[in-house]
Amino acid sequence: MKVSSPLLWLHLLLLLAATAAAKVPAIVVFGDSSVDAGNNNQIPTIAQSNFPPYGRDFSGGKATGRFSNGRIATDFISEAFGLRAAVPAYLDPAYNISDFAVGVTFASAGTGYDNATSDVLGVIPAWRELQYYKDYQKRLRSYLGDGKAIYTLSNSLYIISMGTNDFLENYFAFNSQRRTQYSIDAYQHFLIGLARNFVVNLHGLGARKISIGGLPPMGCMPLERAQNLQNGNGCMETYNIVARSFNDKLYNLTRVLNKDIPGLKLVFSNPYYVLLQIIQKPSSYGFQESQRACCATGMFEMGYACQRSLLTCTDANKYVFWDAFHPSEHTNKMIADHVVKTALYKFL
Ligand SMILES: *[C@@H]1O[C@H](CO)[C@@H](O)[C@H](O)[C@H]1NC(C)=O
Ligand SMILES: *[C@@H]1O[C@H](CO)[C@@H](O)[C@H](O)[C@H]1NC(C)=O
Ligand SMILES: *[C@@H]1O[C@H](CO)[C@@H](O)[C@H](O)[C@H]1NC(C)=O
Repeated sequence: MKVSSPLLWLHLLLLLAATAAAKVPAIVVFGDSSVDAGNNNQIPTIAQSNFPPYGRDFSGGKATGRFSNGRIATDFISEAFGLRAAVPAYLDPAYNISDFAVGVTFASAGTGYDNATSDVLGVIPAWRELQYYKDYQKRLRSYLGDGKAIYTLSNSLYIISMGTNDFLENYFAFNSQRRTQYSIDAYQHFLIGLARNFVVNLHGLGARKISIGGLPPMGCMPLERAQNLQNGNGCMETYNIVARSFNDKLYNLTRVLNKDIPGLKLVFSNPYYVLLQIIQKPSSYGFQESQRACCATGMFEMGYACQRSLLTCTDANKYVFWDAFHPSEHTNKMIADHVVKTALYKFL
């Protein structure tokens, strides 16, 4: 192409500058407590963490509703993409559409792909997170105007992070209905179908750059170890096997959907092995403790049970886990760095 007019050059340059600066204009997040930044504060559920000692290493020492001592992985991912240092919760009244225009999370601690999972603690089901996203689209259009809103929505990075609760809170719970209905393999296929629908619906609403997150080595969470008395509180290998086989299926799903849906760029972000390595060799990564969490006894407590415990550690970032179910900020940063380097770099 030969561009001779100076005015045309200018237009071209402005266009290039605009696309370079806003390659990913916003980060939009769906999922569970791994990526909730306080949506659950606004609903009646015990799955909350907007009180000390949560957030004590967050900016201003604020307990936002993140299940950590500080930031969570999506906050670090947002920063890695040149966006804000923290991704606010859609239901948090302290923020409005001018904040959400560059980043927002619809996540709800305790939720999963399966409606029956969100029912356990009365939290926001996955389908409802998508409804909130539709509402967000409307607000973004009136805030940015149609053209800019459509550009933002189709170039944003979408992150989906859930599934752990479908197994640990639902399928493997002692009174689980699902376990009477499905074998573990059939249940995984059921969830993969739901994950597939979630991605297809999100794509139908205009999303293009999507990351679907794999499960962590969930058998190594302190809460699961605490129940593994026969094996000296080692990792529950049955749960880790489920996590690995579910992750294989999720990875397969990304390959199938990328082939079937033109224009979709779906990547699989896998926290499993990086987290397992950190748990197995904590000292190589600057940690002192990977079996017990920082909060309270470090074996059972999360949420309200972490309040006012005299046992809570002083330096949370020496611990791989902040509470019995959630990583510390330091761990979240390492997981975020890893998935940016191995999967999300495609969108940078
Ligand atoms: C959002 O909130 C900020 C300050 O909190 C305010 O200045 C701004 O006008 C608000 N924007 C919208 C679109 O409501
Ligand atoms: C989950 O619940 C919503 C709302 O009731 C419903 O539309 C959807 O079909 C349900 N999903 C499944 C898989 O049952
Ligand atoms: C992944 O897909 C391949 C080819 O479609 C299939 O042979 C394999 O069994 C699948 N693996 C899983 C874990 O679903």
